Amino acid sequence: MKLLVVLSLVVAACYGSVVRQQRRFPDDFLFGTATASYQIEGGWDADGKGESIWDYMVHNNPSVIRGETNGDVAGDTYNNYKRDVEMMRELGLDAYRFSMAWSRILPTGMANEVNPAGIEFYNNYINEMLKYNIQPLVTLYHWDLPQKLQELGGFANPLFSDWFEDYARVVYENFGDRVKMFITFNEPREICYEGYGAATKAPRLNSTAVGTYLCAKNLVIAHAKAYRLYDKEFREKQGGQCGITISVNWFGPATDAPEDEVAAELRRQGEWGLYAHPIFSAEGGFPKELSDKIAEKSAEQGYARSRLPEFTEEEKEFVRGTSDFFGVNHYTAFMVTAANGNANYPVPSLPDDMDNISFADDDWLKSASVWLTLAPNSIYKALSHLRTLYNDPIFYLTENGWSTLEGRDLIDDDRIEYYRASMESMLNCLDDGIKLKGYMAWSLLDNFEWMEGYIERFGLYEVDFEDPARKRTPRKSAFVYKHIIKNRYVDY
Ligand code: NOJ
Repeated sequence: MKLLVVLSLVVAACYGSVVRQQRRFPDDFLFGTATASYQIEGGWDADGKGESIWDYMVHNNPSVIRGETNGDVAGDTYNNYKRDVEMMRELGLDAYRFSMAWSRILPTGMANEVNPAGIEFYNNYINEMLKYNIQPLVTLYHWDLPQKLQELGGFANPLFSDWFEDYARVVYENFGDRVKMFITFNEPREICYEGYGAATKAPRLNSTAVGTYLCAKNLVIAHAKAYRLYDKEFREKQGGQCGITISVNWFGPATDAPEDEVAAELRRQGEWGLYAHPIFSAEGGFPKELSDKIAEKSAEQGYARSRLPEFTEEEKEFVRGTSDFFGVNHYTAFMVTAANGNANYPVPSLPDDMDNISFADDDWLKSASVWLTLAPNSIYKALSHLRTLYNDPIFYLTENGWSTLEGRDLIDDDRIEYYRASMESMLNCLDDGIKLKGYMAWSLLDNFEWMEGYIERFGLYEVDFEDPARKRTPRKSAFVYKHIIKNRYVDY
């Protein structure tokens, strides 16, 4: 009997370790955190930096931000970057994703005038990371367009792609000897739809579907130009990669009714296909069903031609295949229904064109952000769908995170639950052979959450924004994340 008990214990232990081994993240899986220039840097006009569309908006129209705060100082990373790198070391990060402020490098946005202090700041920041073996991942554009370029129409101007290509060249020339992963744009949907269509982010233009679609085409071409520039002139001597990050939340059908699946698919195309399809699909261009739907809506409104611009065959060819990896920002999931009604968390559809509504399940854990809940296994659902659509690309999760309310204490159990669920969902991806290579938690530290100011907090480190020194203190989740990175599995 005793022998039997001992034997079964041994079997159970072996089985446990086998299971645990299967559920381990590989040693070369990159664990990191992510941030963005305007949200953390401060120094909004320091040492020759030019004005961005966010500087312009918060100074001229402060009441659009909750609490009427702004990013003038934010976490003051401009002066505190060494402390930020120290935090990266405390967490044991393999990599750190951050963005460069275009107008800190090129104050007018155009490449005639390079700001040496801007180059120096990013050099110091990068070198500090490299000292400790932390790999820098650089986003060229995370929403802070130089205001002077906005005055020329910004993303709605077809010349935008040339301005961006010139900026990309300056970035590659100055930092590409040490930066081996570039991300051209962060979240095209938010840039185009929220900035040019729905007026919910700077520059707050409300040209309904028109602005969104013009922006989408110009952005995708700008991305392709920056990618091709890297490929042609820099890749060989610098040996890095270049890609794009798209926001991909999961949109599933609310019921088994076929019209809900049709609505969900159309919604997915409107949310991410508009930007991903031209780059990652085999045929290139905007997704067909979406183009048809927009043409139909345009016709209903009396227009003989669709308001969605088209790509010429040459443009399709130029854009297709221009990403070494698929950067995914994933936070949550929604259910989509063709009919209006039962919406707990309605998120507006693309104006005029998508006849559907989305909402979260009542049972899903809620964060401090109205759009963010903990939906089951949503990373896996999103990535397995993308993998099928776009021929099994290499993925990096370039953002994923949870918000709590300002003023809450350092014990952030909800965030821990969320991160743990994300880890499990990623392990499901790896078990299934999805080529997921890294994960950047949003965010290293509390920061300026755009229109929500400092009310919604995403940081593993809490920042005291009342303190002139902007003291940073780790939350409980920081210790948990550190533990996961070190052990490469989730064991609690
Ligand atoms: C995605 C954006 O890239 C980031 O800037 C933002 O703070 C997070 N989502 C959270 O809303």
